[in-house]
Amino acid sequence: VKFSEKGLPLAGKKALVSAGPTYEAIDPVRFIGNHSSGKMGYAIATQLEELGADVTLVSGPSALKLPKGVDTISVTSAAEMLHACEEHFDAADIVVMSAAVADYTPVEVANQKIKKKENEFSIVLKKTADILATLGAKKKENQLLVGFALETNNELENAKDKLIRKNLDFIVLNSMQDKGAGFATDTNKVTIIDRAGNTHEFSLKSKEEVAKDICSIIVSLS
Ligand code: CTP
Ligand code: CA
Repeated sequence: VKFSEKGLPLAGKKALVSAGPTYEAIDPVRFIGNHSSGKMGYAIATQLEELGADVTLVSGPSALKLPKGVDTISVTSAAEMLHACEEHFDAADIVVMSAAVADYTPVEVANQKIKKKENEFSIVLKKTADILATLGAKKKENQLLVGFALETNNELENAKDKLIRKNLDFIVLNSMQDKGAGFATDTNKVTIIDRAGNTHEFSLKSKEEVAKDICSIIVSLS
């Protein structure tokens, strides 16, 4: 524990956070990605660090400034993100997976730029590994595992299912129904669901404020 961390609620704890999108290469110049900015995960990493934790952030491609005092590992693909997260998981007390990981990746990556075809063109995709579920399957008693869920319908039911299936302590449901919530915005509206089935709906607020709400629950469970 560093001198400056003494007395902070998460002093002596190690945290692992994933953030941002993943890019799945199609050929040397193209990829499949998504609109995640990384803001939510970077705000959580920053907050955990301010609370005294020793934070490792595994980040997909993001234009954001790296959080101060946080050990950031930059990755591109879902496979690279899995590898980095698995490497740091065992040592972590607190794990928050907020990355928007691609669910599918091309079966083959072309060595050369793919030329335009006459007509339709398709790419065969295979499923990526579910990083959060992989970590959940090997979670130890003393580890706290937090996931996110992005849903557009049957939100609560789908999020509860993910919480149980991935063996999480709690899940943060991002509602896409609200304007100003979700990807590439500065604000977010979340509902937090725990294993006992308790749900807590928060108001629309900045991602920094949402990160504080999430981290105060982490502190109470740590
Ligand atoms: N997640 C992950 N690895 C993946 C896919 C998702 O670690 N390959 C994590 C995300 O970081 C998030 C949670 O799983 O914390 C839920 O992601 P989401 O996309 O909402 O759920 P999926 O399980 O992928 O299901 P679907 O996209 O079909 O709703
Ligand atoms: Ca998904």
